[in-house]
Amino acid sequence: MPEMRQSSLVVVANRLPIDDSQAPDGACEWRRSPGGLVSALHPLLRHTPATWVGWAGGTGPAPALPDVDGVRMHTVALSPEDLRDHYEGFANATLWPLYHDSVEQPQHHRRWWEAYQRVNQRFAEATAEVAEPGGMVWVQDYHLQLVPGQLRTLRPDLRIGFFLHVPFPPPELFMQLPRRAELLRGMLGADLVGFQRVQAAHNFAQLVTRVLELPATDRRIGIDDRVVRIGAFPVSIDTAEMAALAARPDVAARARRLRQDLGDPRQVVLSVDRMDYTKGIEQRLKAYSELLAVGDVKVRDTVLVQVAMPSRERVGQYQILRERIEREVGRINGEFGRVGEPAIHYLTQPFDRVELAALYRVADVMAVTPLRDGMNLVAKEYVAARVDNTGALLLSEFAGTAAELSQAYLVNPHDLEGLKQGLRAALRASPADSTQRMRAMRAHLHQHDIRAWARSYLRALDEGGALVGRSADTNSDGTVRVPRPSTASSGPAVHQSRG
Ligand code: ADP
Ligand code: F6P
Repeated sequence: MPEMRQSSLVVVANRLPIDDSQAPDGACEWRRSPGGLVSALHPLLRHTPATWVGWAGGTGPAPALPDVDGVRMHTVALSPEDLRDHYEGFANATLWPLYHDSVEQPQHHRRWWEAYQRVNQRFAEATAEVAEPGGMVWVQDYHLQLVPGQLRTLRPDLRIGFFLHVPFPPPELFMQLPRRAELLRGMLGADLVGFQRVQAAHNFAQLVTRVLELPATDRRIGIDDRVVRIGAFPVSIDTAEMAALAARPDVAARARRLRQDLGDPRQVVLSVDRMDYTKGIEQRLKAYSELLAVGDVKVRDTVLVQVAMPSRERVGQYQILRERIEREVGRINGEFGRVGEPAIHYLTQPFDRVELAALYRVADVMAVTPLRDGMNLVAKEYVAARVDNTGALLLSEFAGTAAELSQAYLVNPHDLEGLKQGLRAALRASPADSTQRMRAMRAHLHQHDIRAWARSYLRALDEGGALVGRSADTNSDGTVRVPRPSTASSGPAVHQSRG
């Protein structure tokens, strides 16, 4: 067997940052997924041999994949049972609803837990093979909460980070999990546990104290002879990239064309969601339909474009949601639309970045009203795309984004009257007020972009360990040089944790 190449930085995520598509000759081609973590990390990894460990989708044998922008792809295969019980089961029918306020009932099956442990172990073993002695590993999200602990057992020499992209629930909800202690212990295998919000770190510390009886504050947790640091690192987008895309003349032309195709309405309201019950799509449609019913919104004057990209389609709760949304869109269009003038333009297709940027540019009001969301990048993309500082963002208080974009029109999506009032206010906003709000939000996002996020997390992970003294250096172009460990031995390194 050829010797496995090792990297000083390994990112571990459920999905690899690539999509397969068909080349003109019919062959399968792999391309870097647009947006997302890989674009975030790409500029940071230029100087570092890095590997990404993840699933390539599907249930066949793990394909051998080419490097993506210099980052090695290391595939973990899932069997049909793993897909059903780990991804669709424990990850997306137990943890996902539980972590999102139980807006749908979480389901518990012992078989799913077994699959979760098994698949996490496989990711941990794959990571242990490709990480250099003393290297850094950054594990992502709720699919892989056991990996930090499993990896520490296999490779105590590594510096391990874990980041949760979704909300971390309050103790009352988390306590329902039959295997709550194991999940907490898994996360505590990391040296640094990052969350989107300060409240999530607080929930985690409380749970660790209550369930594991460990000494914990909202910043540090003591376990065995180690200190695990915890904190909030709100994830962001490549603001400059989205702004540059939206400013392109072809995108501006496409936006003008879209407006024409929509019938040149006075105002366009846009929502872009994954089809997910956490996104509040049904509540938003109800609010919109009530505004239509009383004449506060008129079809010829205003159109709603609802993009809802199907997701996790074999999970029952997602199938039911899609049926309900489609019935409601049909009802609203049947009741309020006219020939050639639907009240809602409903689209379930994937769009490329150019089309998304054009949609953001055409939207006078962007309605982002999830019932609960770890962050919500769509809201940030919209703001980044408003290069002329116009437009109004209607934003749920329960999206992580709301903690940063306080100049948005903030609403409680559970409060139908409040939602209608927020939508009316956004539609009637004065240009001067909109510009003031948009400027402030854009300034924030230019400073707090995805590079700043990755840089602050990796610096914090590096802090206090064997890598101290060779902290992540900033290069003249603003990118970060992730430090290479000097230890040559693969044996357990003694990390002096300064907490
Ligand atoms: P989540 O992670 O729950 O899906 P986010 O709003 O944080 O929600 O991220 C969604 C990402 O998916 C955004 O980058 C957005 O641009 C992208 N996206 C959403 N809908 C589509 C679509 N129809 N086509 C292409 N990309 C989409
Ligand atoms: O936001 C959570 C998340 O799992 C993201 O990591 C991912 O991009 C998105 O939801 C889509 O989910 P899935 O990987 O299940 O298609």
